[in-house]
Amino acid sequence: VTKGLKDHYKAYFPIGVAVSPRSLTGADAELIIQQFNSLTPENAMKMGPIHPEENRYNWTPADSIVNFAQRHGMKVRGHALCWHEQTPAWLFKDAAGNTVTKEVLLSRLKDHITTVVNRYKGKIYAWDVVNEAVDDDSTRVLRNSLWHQICGDEYIVKAFEYAHAADPNAVLFYNDYNTERPEKRERVYKLLKKLVEAKVPVHGVGLQAHWSIYEPSENELRTAIEKFASLGLKIQFTELDISVYPWEKNRRAKTANDADAFTPKLEQQQLEQYKKVFRIFREYKNVVTGVTCWGISDRYTWLDEYPVPGRKNYPTLFDKDRKPKKAFEAVVGF
Ligand code: G3I
Repeated sequence: VTKGLKDHYKAYFPIGVAVSPRSLTGADAELIIQQFNSLTPENAMKMGPIHPEENRYNWTPADSIVNFAQRHGMKVRGHALCWHEQTPAWLFKDAAGNTVTKEVLLSRLKDHITTVVNRYKGKIYAWDVVNEAVDDDSTRVLRNSLWHQICGDEYIVKAFEYAHAADPNAVLFYNDYNTERPEKRERVYKLLKKLVEAKVPVHGVGLQAHWSIYEPSENELRTAIEKFASLGLKIQFTELDISVYPWEKNRRAKTANDADAFTPKLEQQQLEQYKKVFRIFREYKNVVTGVTCWGISDRYTWLDEYPVPGRKNYPTLFDKDRKPKKAFEAVVGF
């Protein structure tokens, strides 16, 4: 491959990839440099990894990703400032082991966001400020996380305000998954509408795009884009991968032995899904300002561990030998 994804999409939007520090050397690094012009740290900037103790930050992994991006002229999306997962053990407790008050938790959130955003000011152009705060299966809008239990709705507003104060030039995102499914979409919309109306500094919505060869439908994807864009928000597809297993069936598949081989049929279905979603992304290039792949190649993907540990998946555009798949050709052949 001589021309990378980033070159094919130059007139549209940056094409990013999720990385760990380990992927910044050797064959992975070569592929990254050839194909992508934006990086997202897959884990290194989450609060647990980067802020393991109240007065200690672990900058090395995150720095190495930002430095790599700088050396190679790539953008960086920061991920994620406030999330209910991968939180450090100290965060919600005081020295005596009691749950902290709202005042304490908000002041910790402020310190964290201010410190992290400040460090990468001018080097990280966009931040996932709040990640996955909306509930999955119920009638409530917000997830019943510790953040919410302790602070109520307010932590979301505060997180955006702290991030904006630390870097007024950064583009600030609310990021979530399953945002094309009507019920979740409506809940995310409700939250965002409230934030926008209250003039909270939220500039975009990150639609994660952990999809499969069966979903979303063209109509679901268009509806989501149009609905969120109607709020005046920019849209980025922040964690794109296309599983070869249907997400609903995932819940029933129990063992690694349920793994399918990457058959020509699956290959064909996957290329059609990739082709379709990228066609739609291009059509909405006025509002879609970035697309990030959640994984470099099928050699390593979080979907090998989730939801069925050890069950092989093939969700990316490059195969286990880092060669472009048919889906790659479909995505660049327009
Ligand atoms: O860092 C430890 C390491 O010290 C330890 O030796 C190893 C043993 O298992 O675990 C390592 O942590 C793992 C980490 O990935 C780094 O590899 C965690 O157990 C594992 O849970 C973690 O998974 C990540 C997951 O988020 C956790 O929240 C995935 O790599 C990452 O792809 C995934 O990404 C999320 C996005 O941030 C938000 N949207 C959904 C998406 C998929 O879940």
